[in-house]
Amino acid sequence: MCGIVGYSGPQNAIIPVLEGLTRLEYRGYDSAGVSYLVNNEIQIIKKEGKIDNLKAEIKNKNPFSHTAIGHTRWATHGAVNELNAHPHTNETFSIVHNGIIENASEIKEDLQKEGFKFKSDTDSEVFLVLLTKYFLQTKSVKDSISLAMKLIRGNSAFVMMMKDSTSLYAVKRGAPLVAGNNPAKKEIYLSSDPYALIGFAENIYFPEDEVICELNRTDKDIEVKFFELSGQKSERYKAQAKKMSLDVANKGEHEHFMLKEIYEQPGLIKNLYEYYLNQEGRQLLTKITKYKPDFIHIIGCGTAWHAGLVIKNFFEEQNKVRVNVELASEFRYRNPILKKNDIGIFISQSGETADTLASCDLCIEEKVTALSIVNVEGSTLYRNCAENFLIKAGLEIGVASTKAFTMQVLTGYLMSLSMAGKLEAKKVQKEFDLLADNIKQVLSRTTEIKAIADAVYNKKGFIFTGRGIYFPIALEGALKLKEIAYVHAEGYAAGELKHGPIALIDQHMVNISIVGPELHEKALSNTEEVKSRRGLIIGIGDEKDKKLKGVSDYYFGMNLEGLDHLRPVLVNISMQLFAYYVAKLKGTDIDKPRNLAKSVTVE
Ligand code: AGP
Repeated sequence: MCGIVGYSGPQNAIIPVLEGLTRLEYRGYDSAGVSYLVNNEIQIIKKEGKIDNLKAEIKNKNPFSHTAIGHTRWATHGAVNELNAHPHTNETFSIVHNGIIENASEIKEDLQKEGFKFKSDTDSEVFLVLLTKYFLQTKSVKDSISLAMKLIRGNSAFVMMMKDSTSLYAVKRGAPLVAGNNPAKKEIYLSSDPYALIGFAENIYFPEDEVICELNRTDKDIEVKFFELSGQKSERYKAQAKKMSLDVANKGEHEHFMLKEIYEQPGLIKNLYEYYLNQEGRQLLTKITKYKPDFIHIIGCGTAWHAGLVIKNFFEEQNKVRVNVELASEFRYRNPILKKNDIGIFISQSGETADTLASCDLCIEEKVTALSIVNVEGSTLYRNCAENFLIKAGLEIGVASTKAFTMQVLTGYLMSLSMAGKLEAKKVQKEFDLLADNIKQVLSRTTEIKAIADAVYNKKGFIFTGRGIYFPIALEGALKLKEIAYVHAEGYAAGELKHGPIALIDQHMVNISIVGPELHEKALSNTEEVKSRRGLIIGIGDEKDKKLKGVSDYYFGMNLEGLDHLRPVLVNISMQLFAYYVAKLKGTDIDKPRNLAKSVTVE
């Protein structure tokens, strides 16, 4: 997901723009750039690679400007190089873009036939040329934006500035965008993420799709205005309810944001209980009781999909309702059978994942009620859904999702209990407190997990296995390891091993075998099948399970007593730590793994 920051104000614009882009690094990118006004002419600096390359170049040139826009690019169209990096600029405009213009090639062809020239291989530049073409015709920036938006297809957010103007413009469709201002300092801001503006903008606004933001600044005053594509004033935007604090932006005593976020989980679990059982979240849980669906579609990607697989068990067992958990990228194109008394539950940490948003749109078009389990208030998913169940995980900066998974599962658990009319506050408080305490115990035993990671981190491959409620945890554990340690890992239903994957087993393969009290004998015999083929066993289970310990080369036992439905959440903490320490040994960029973005806003 690309990062966007725009600024116009009395200070050197390069400073807040670079600070904002740095904060958005966690989302993943492969090049970065800024454009800025000097004597009403557009200047530009952009560099391939990390933002430090851009900062070094800026240091050399030492520019000063009151108006600038910046971008971190996660390549979708066009190779990773300086030419394709944003901003894209010509003699009139400079633009930055997050998303995909799906019909870019057709439009580009037509524009080239009209004699327009292109410098890059990107779809984004098509918007720049369209804007310029329409501006030549209309002499109106807003009309030009409107005409361009009506022509392009796909999810995109654009921020623009033009020569000889201190105004900034922006528009979006299915991608994140925020506008901000600081009246006292006469400053105006735009970004793809409110997090970039914390501490700068006094007010933050969330425009809806196809709302043109016009931010004007003179030495005396600033204004933030919103317009429909028709040119009419628009009221389709929300002001941010409450300020976000910036303290989330430091790692505290932890070496990585990912580790900090793993350690935050016990406290977040207690906060979640408070929010949903004693504060404003309570009435939300009450609202869900009005739904008596015949069928529930749970949709998500990656870790969110894994959380959905765990949540499925809650809804089926507690509500006796059929639940299907689907990958958003599959669901959106397979013409799913949707009935009006279905509900869709969309799980997304960012609330900006393109496939999840598209799946949500599909359900809404078919009049299926859409509910979200989401972390970012004001995100696109948040604004599109009928009800939003916030997971209250706070900002998750590590690209590999950890605390969000835990909070997604627990939020789903509360939703299911409430829908079934089985939500007993005291019982839930006891379960959540026990879970939080047991997680703290696991977090106090990292030496053991480090030792296991140290013993196996160079092995050829890793197969995570689990049965029943632990199968999703096997998938999630494998994903974590792949994401941050760059090693090949697979998650498998333990019962599936003998249907093929067991051919992989030899003394160089590691089986992280999750064996809980449920289906214990079956899961244990699967572990023994691996053992008998010289596979290395890391046994993950109950601390009292002597049988599993006996068959394991390495064993990490936890206190699963009394946790019942929430055992998978506790087991997953050990998976998170295992992946983290293997990655540390591998020396990878744990918070910003290669090729990955924190939020995949393109398909
Ligand atoms: C999880 O560690 C990954 N970063 C990724 O799979 C992520 O869960 C997925 O892209 C979905 O993101 P979302 O929750 O923001 O929709």
